[in-house]
Order: sequence, then C-alpha cells, then structure tokens
Amino acid sequence: MELDSATSQKNKGLFGRIKDAVQSGLSVKLLILTAVFVLIAEVLIFVPSIANFRNVWLKDHLLTAEAASIVYLDSNDLMLSEGAGQDLLEATEALAVAIRSDGISRLMATSGKLGVLSEHIDLDNSTAFGSIKSSLSMMFADPDMQYRVFGTMRSSPAIMELVQETKHIQASLWVYARNVAFLSLLISIFTAALVYLALYRLIVLPIIRISSNMDAFSKTPENASLVYKPTKRMDEIGTAEKRLAAFQGDLQQTLRQKQRLADLGLAVSKINHDLRNILASAQLFSDRLTALPDPTVQKFAPKLIKTIDRAVDYTKSVIDYGRALEAPPKRRKLLVNIVANDVADILGLENSLSIEWKNDIPLELEADADPEQLFRILMNICRNAQQAMIDADIPDRIKELRVIAERKDNEVHVCICDTGPGIPEHVRKIIFNAFEGSTKAGGSGLGMAIAMELIKAHGGSIDIEKTDETGTVFRVIIPDQV
Ligand SMILES: Nc1ncnc2c1ncn2[C@@H]1O[C@H](COP(=O)(O)OP(=O)(O)OP(=O)(O)O)[C@@H](O)[C@H]1O
Ligand SMILES: [Mg+2]
Repeated sequence: MELDSATSQKNKGLFGRIKDAVQSGLSVKLLILTAVFVLIAEVLIFVPSIANFRNVWLKDHLLTAEAASIVYLDSNDLMLSEGAGQDLLEATEALAVAIRSDGISRLMATSGKLGVLSEHIDLDNSTAFGSIKSSLSMMFADPDMQYRVFGTMRSSPAIMELVQETKHIQASLWVYARNVAFLSLLISIFTAALVYLALYRLIVLPIIRISSNMDAFSKTPENASLVYKPTKRMDEIGTAEKRLAAFQGDLQQTLRQKQRLADLGLAVSKINHDLRNILASAQLFSDRLTALPDPTVQKFAPKLIKTIDRAVDYTKSVIDYGRALEAPPKRRKLLVNIVANDVADILGLENSLSIEWKNDIPLELEADADPEQLFRILMNICRNAQQAMIDADIPDRIKELRVIAERKDNEVHVCICDTGPGIPEHVRKIIFNAFEGSTKAGGSGLGMAIAMELIKAHGGSIDIEKTDETGTVFRVIIPDQV
C-alpha cells in the first residue's frame, strides 16, 4: 500500500504535488493569496508611477531648454551659434528646440535630422489616462520615432518646444521600470511575508491547533486530557475555542453517563433474565394451584396467574428494550377502529364503571401500519390515560377516554383524549426517555419510550397536543408507506 502511494506521489510530478499542497493547506493558500494581492496592489501603483516619471522626464528637458533660452531671448539672433546649438541639443537630447511667443515660433537649434512626428505631447493639458497610455506605448515604440513635446515656460508665457527621438526617453523609462519593478517585488515579498506571518499566527495556527485537537478528540473522546485548553483570546477564535472546550466537556460527561447507563442496563438485563426463569417456575406452580378444589384458591389463583403473567411480560419487555430487539414493522392496511377496540378490550375499558370509553374513529378509516405495533402504541398511551384517571381525585367531572382519528393526505392522525389530571410538568420533557418518565410506583417508565420507538420505525410521530388540569391529548401520526 505504502509503496503504491509512494509511486503515485512520484508519478504525480511537481505540478501535481504543488496542486496537492495548495488544495490541502490553508497556510499555503493564504501565502499565495497574500503574495498575489500585494502584487496586484503594486502593479496598480507601478503603472501610474511610470506615467509620472515620463512627465517629469519631459518637463526636465523642457526646463533645461528654458534655462538656455533666457540668454537667447535677450539677443536678436535668429538661431544660436552652431556650438551653442549643438550643446543645447545634447543637453536636451533633442533634434530641434524652438520657442513660441506672441504667435511667432523661433527655431533655437536644429540638428537637421527632423522626420515625421508620431506624437504631439502637450504637457500643459495632459490627463492621467493619456499619460499612462502614452508612456506605455513609448516603452514599446520604435526607438527612432520622433515626437514633439511642448509646454509653457516657467519664467515667461512663451511656449518651449522640443522634438526628440523616442530612444532617449524609452531607455530611461525601461531603467526606471526595471528599478521600480524590482523594488515592488521586494516590497511585495516583504509585505506578503509580514501579512502572512501575522495571519498565520492569528488565524491559521489556532485553526490548525483546533482541528488537530478535534481530530485527536474524535478518536478517543473519553480521554479527559484531550479536552481543548482555550487561550485567553477575546475575539471570535477565542469564543470558538471556549465553545469547543465546553462542548467537549459536556460530551465527555454525557459519554460517562451513557457508559454508566449501559453498564446498568447490562446488569438489569442479567437480573431480568434470571428473574424470568424464576417467574417461569412460579407460573408452573400457580398453574397447578388451579387444579385444587378449595374455593379460596379458586378465587385467587386466576389473579395470581395473571399477575405472574404480567411480571413475565414485564421482564421480557425490559430485556427486549435492552437488546433493541424491536422487529421492523410489517405494514399493511388495517382498520384503526378495530385496533382501538382491541386495546379497550385488553384494558377492560368497555365494561369499566369508572371510566367512559368512546371510540369515535370512523369505521372505514384505514392506516398503513404493523397491526401488532400500532396496538402496542395505542395500548401504552391509553393505559397511561386510564391509570392517570383512576389514580386522580377528580370528582367534579366525568372520567372519559376518547379516541378520534382522521386521514390528512397520506397520514392518519389518531388523537387519544382523556379528562385526567394532566402530565406533571417535570415529566413532559422526559416522557419519551426510557426509564426516566415514570411517576408511578411499579411503573418502569418504558411505555412511552417504546411507543415512540415503534412509531418512529413507521416514520411517524407522537406529540402531546394538550395537557393541563382538564386532561391530556396525545396525537399519533402514522404516515403511509412510501
Ligand atoms: N395521559 C396521561 N395523563 C397523565 N400523566 C401521564 C399520561 N400519560 C403519561 N403520563 C405520565 O408519564 C409517565 C411516563 O409514562 P410511561 O408510559 O412512559 O411510563 P409508566 O406508565 O410510568 O410505566 P410503564 O413502563 O409501565 O408504562 C407516567 O408515569 C405518567 O406520570
Ligand atoms: Mg405507561
């Protein structure tokens, strides 16, 4: 396996490995992004700075020409002497220097190599965009091309004009561009490194710490030494660290609790198992009792048998719950009214003197459910209601247990309504938790947990729709099978 992965790493090549690194590490992504963003910022500064350099360069040359022109303007000569003219042309790197005042142009010096002019640059009215465009095109233009540049003199309202070959400014522009580019690169590497280091320490490192802790914790969540130790940070990462530590602490406590419950469950299962065997012997003995002719025995034997039967059922249900032995529902179309009547039958509700039983479920209403499991669901809910009403002291009203049902699209809703004392406040939240919700002596607190488990296997639900001192309504929703 390892050999395989080594070979595949090799086969991937440099590009593949770089791609992997970029995709896997937050820090690598951050480094690249920082460098790219700083470089973009540098380019945005670089381009206008080249245009600015070109303007300064041209102005400098016009100023040089202007300095020479002061002497010239005082004389009445048509042109400078050949020597002076040559010096001026060299100093201004121009092919011709002219001055224009009062609408009259005077040529101060010329080399005689004038050609076609590719551009006329007015330094008095240059725009930022025009300068950028012109400086970029000058960098890549034919060096022998000629252009004319002019601008108002500083010392007088006359206009100074130069004709220059592109090569001089081009060379200067390239030197400048190279220097600035080099400097920009240095600055961007330096800035990127600083930004990266700051972000790495502030964000990446804590995230790496958090994620590696989560990784280790998820492997052995019961290890107390792995609970995250938050730093003193007060920002969002600090909050995340504190929440993580609190969450892991809570989780460990729940796990410990669950482990203890599991141990307890195992012990209960074992006790139940043996208890069931003992009860089976008791069942045998009590069966024999029915054969005795004694009228007292005849009177109490069936009750004893019934009680033992119930105890056996009870131990069995605890064992089944512990092993989670509920079979998946075998669903078919069934008449809900009949199931409710079976429940009333078993609970002795139909002949009950103390409780009025009302089955208002439409006779033809069909649900798509496992008949045995739906029976157990309704039986648990109805039995609770029955017990609650029997136990309660409510002389001022009729004790009534009523079931109603209707179809809503692809669901059947069954409501079990009683006029009992209501579910105690502290029980409401835990009523569906196994072993937790019971308030009765002898109650196991399993009835509602089992009912919930069975209805969930049907994709349905049980809700307490109402519960107060006037009674309780449970709503059972049984969706059709999809
Ligand atoms: N209709 C109701 N009216 C009042 N209290 C109710 C009603 N239904 C349930 N309860 C309360 O909810 C508790 C939990 O019911 P659940 O059926 O889960 O356990 P149990 O009835 O105590 O034990 P068993 O496992 O034998 O059913 C009951 O003890 C009772 O206090
Ligand atoms: Mg119950």
